[in-house]
Amino acid sequence: MGHHQAFDFLVIGSGVAGLSYALQVAEYGTVGIITKKESAESNTNYAQGGIAAVMDPGDSFAQHIADTLDAGAGLCDPEIVRIVVTEGPERLRELMAWGAHFTRTGTGKLHLGREGGHSANRIVHAADATGREVERALLTSVRAHPNIQIFEYHYAIDLITEHHLGQHVSRVRPDIHCYGAYVLDEQTEEVIPFLAKVVMLASGGSGAVYLHTTNPAIATGDGTAMAYRAKARLSNMEFVQFHPTSLFHPEAHSFLISEAVRGEGGLLFNQAGDRFMPAYDDRAELAPRDIVARAIDDQLKQRGEAYVLLDISHKPAAFVKEHFPMIHETCLQFGIDITQQPIPVVPAAHYQCGGVQTDAFARTSIQGLFACGEVTCTGLHGANRLASNSLLEALVFSHRAVAPSVEYVKTQSWNMAVPEWDSSGTKRPQEWVLVSHNREELRRVMWDYVGIVRSRLRLDRAFRRTHLLYEETEDFYRRSRISTGLCELRNMIAVAYLIIRSAQMRHESRGLHYMLDFPDPVESERRPSLV
Ligand code: FAD
Ligand code: SIN
Repeated sequence: MGHHQAFDFLVIGSGVAGLSYALQVAEYGTVGIITKKESAESNTNYAQGGIAAVMDPGDSFAQHIADTLDAGAGLCDPEIVRIVVTEGPERLRELMAWGAHFTRTGTGKLHLGREGGHSANRIVHAADATGREVERALLTSVRAHPNIQIFEYHYAIDLITEHHLGQHVSRVRPDIHCYGAYVLDEQTEEVIPFLAKVVMLASGGSGAVYLHTTNPAIATGDGTAMAYRAKARLSNMEFVQFHPTSLFHPEAHSFLISEAVRGEGGLLFNQAGDRFMPAYDDRAELAPRDIVARAIDDQLKQRGEAYVLLDISHKPAAFVKEHFPMIHETCLQFGIDITQQPIPVVPAAHYQCGGVQTDAFARTSIQGLFACGEVTCTGLHGANRLASNSLLEALVFSHRAVAPSVEYVKTQSWNMAVPEWDSSGTKRPQEWVLVSHNREELRRVMWDYVGIVRSRLRLDRAFRRTHLLYEETEDFYRRSRISTGLCELRNMIAVAYLIIRSAQMRHESRGLHYMLDFPDPVESERRPSLV
């Protein structure tokens, strides 16, 4: 075989899931991490509120479990919830041992914040930039480890399975194996097979398929789409979480205003100055996200306004600056002083609750392919994720994946003959505009028709539009040389298709999936959706 790379463990993604897994398996073999931009660029890096864990003697596992189940609206897997909640504190202590520093009170105890849907203060955080601290600490340890090599600006195109070895692969076939991934080196424009005994898919979410999102532009659902093409089992793709409060400003690219602002007393008003949340839910501003996002959407539609207002200016300015230094500074850059005035906010796509189905040890339905973090559907979130449960989930399952993947590695070799990537397509530069136009069109279709409030009519329309984009893009893909932009577009279309199809199949409203045609939950529909 020609130019290739080979590792015991190949990790796709350098967010909290990929890095924490890499650090642990590096004790047992060689690890390659590929990441499509610079190492820190990930959803993890932008996480604000924190990590939910029972760290206070006044809190309890039972309460955290109950809150998670309540937010999940009847679709959580109770055993998975128990595992994550009870193992969470240990994983958090491990993260601190790897060098992550979190905000402490005057007496040196962890400061525990509050967020929507939580019945206690249990959010461990680093002021309002928790993800940056987690990413910093993990990257420092990973870079210092002699067994780990990081490949920046390397883009995973597809997982290597029997399909690439010339065998027929169908979704019902029980014994598909993963042998690595085809990876585009963005500098040399060469596609290189990265062979591995175990692949850990930790490629994050897909917020970028929506026009307005809190996610960075890298969140194009590549891992979800790759796994789907490889015929892995996926579930619950209709449950897309919209964060209620992203900054409304023409120049701000959906900058998040953390839920912790409401946790510390922030109140929501419409533009007439009415505090509207108490009319929607007894928990008012601290109701779970689906409820707050839908209430804001309702206010905007009823009143024909473009944003609502989030106000924390009644708190002392020093308090606001101490708790929210990054939000304060960023808003100031847009001319908004949050210690003095309310913040204009709108909901934006935030988190993919569904994804590649995994078991209690992060195993997917494909042998040798593990998955962890936002790309997965573990059963923790059900129909709606509780705030700050996702960093926690990634930490718990990256740890649980270690023992079974180390065992699997022992049974494998790199002996299979993986063919070179076929790069026979010809570049047609005059058509590149297609990629950017189709990307924008897709994001708008998803925002307009597959958003916070859905209907059969809107979903059908979205399906037809998306199908057209699919046909055009596939045709272009067949004729073109590979590029990251084109692959991302293909993946975004695949993810959009999965969201729309799953939404069309759920004939009820539950959690994040709200359908005008079926406004209530229906007990006979209460099961995870499968694709
Ligand atoms: P990510 O951190 O997104 O990492 C994915 C990695 O995969 C990236 O390095 C990316 O470059 C790489 N990648 C993707 N595709 C490819 C490819 N094809 N080839 C190579 N590399 C690829 N959750 C909480 O629990 N608490 C919070 O306070 C919180 N706040 C948030 C605030 C914001 C603004 C956002 C966007 C999310 C927030 N979340 C929060 C959610 C949480 O941050 C994410 O769910 C979590 O960080 C996901 O981690 P991950 O490791 O799975 O993926
Ligand atoms: C936030 O800080 O509001 C984000 C928390 C989360 O998504 O879990």
